[in-house]
Amino acid sequence: MATLTPTAFRARFPLLARRTYVNSCSQGALSTDVDGAMRAFLDSWNDEGSPWEAWIGEVERLRATFASLIGADADEVAVLPSASIGINSIASALTFESARRRVVMGRFEFPTMAQVWLAQCERGAEIAWVDPVDGMLPPESYASVIDERTLIVPATHVCFRNGHKTDIASLAALCRDRGVYLFLDDYQRTGTGPMDVRALGVDFMVTGALKYLLGPSGVAFLYVRRELIEHLVPTMTGWFGRVNPFAFSIDDLDWSPSARRFESGTPMIPNVYGAQAGLDLLRAVGLDTVEQTVADLTSGLLAWAENAGVVTPTPADGSHRGPLVVLRSTDAPALVEKLRARGVIASCRDDGLRVSFHGYNTQADLDAVIAALEAESAMLQRQAVLGRG
Ligand SMILES: Cc1ncc(COP(=O)(O)O)c(C=O)c1O
Repeated sequence: MATLTPTAFRARFPLLARRTYVNSCSQGALSTDVDGAMRAFLDSWNDEGSPWEAWIGEVERLRATFASLIGADADEVAVLPSASIGINSIASALTFESARRRVVMGRFEFPTMAQVWLAQCERGAEIAWVDPVDGMLPPESYASVIDERTLIVPATHVCFRNGHKTDIASLAALCRDRGVYLFLDDYQRTGTGPMDVRALGVDFMVTGALKYLLGPSGVAFLYVRRELIEHLVPTMTGWFGRVNPFAFSIDDLDWSPSARRFESGTPMIPNVYGAQAGLDLLRAVGLDTVEQTVADLTSGLLAWAENAGVVTPTPADGSHRGPLVVLRSTDAPALVEKLRARGVIASCRDDGLRVSFHGYNTQADLDAVIAALEAESAMLQRQAVLGRG
């Protein structure tokens, strides 16, 4: 696809002409490209019945496109139905029998990450938590918990609850020094800026198509650093984890030498078509452009919040936040509904209103969000005003 200007990119999302859409942290907006691609799948089904070779070819095309987006090779990427399955697959390949059996996690993890590792306690794992300090989770906080008993550190890049962005490069260096695996959950960031998974130095990474990668639900990706792949034998498996799934053998259990060994069943073909179109769109607009747009809009909203005295757990420093800004509300679910009535689609977690920006959002969207928030300002929590007797 040819390069797209930001204006041409935005025009691919019909929803954006009707609504102010600031909920990409939950689901990216639907583009005409993804719509067309998913219909193309239906056409292929309708026209040819069962073109499995072409469909599997689409899975391989998606694997290669995603790999190039994160600076990996295609054979380091598994294409999966959900991030949870990717995390489970790696957990199933680890043992928790030696002295190194600890999983060290920050309190900003998404529930599925915590839950998969908690489930490993049945298999001998121990969990140690890292608590935030002043709303931040710096690598130094991890440093005091990671020790010679630690096997793996699962870490979210951007927290879904407060928008905090962890310094993954430093955390990865710390883990490397201490001989510990780092498992990045990049779901709340992938698609909002360039990424080089090797430069970051992570061992594993999961993310999914449905948020900033602009695809449908039902496609996720697991990156596994090349040197680790052949040492990991998952006990969650299936015929797509084999060297040649189409050998249809029931006597041998061979393992694909690539990250395909972490896959199990029939790929999610309709979603794969949609996910490919989402990635193609992102490549056409460029991740540098997306990153700049997102940084400008998050800064703008936080500057307004600071000026208006609205309480936010999202770090003010741009290097410690991603595309998500959270504002504290007196009744966040009700505020989401009030905003919806004003044409602004956002979401909430706990008492936080979540406003997330993508490359398709504009200053006009930010102005519309601010106008709606000012109209509903009674539902926002304010800083206590100090120094006034
Ligand atoms: C940070 C993060 N990790 C994981 C997930 C869920 O992944 P999945 O449902 O694909 O297992 C989400 C979904 O919102 C998320 O925000």
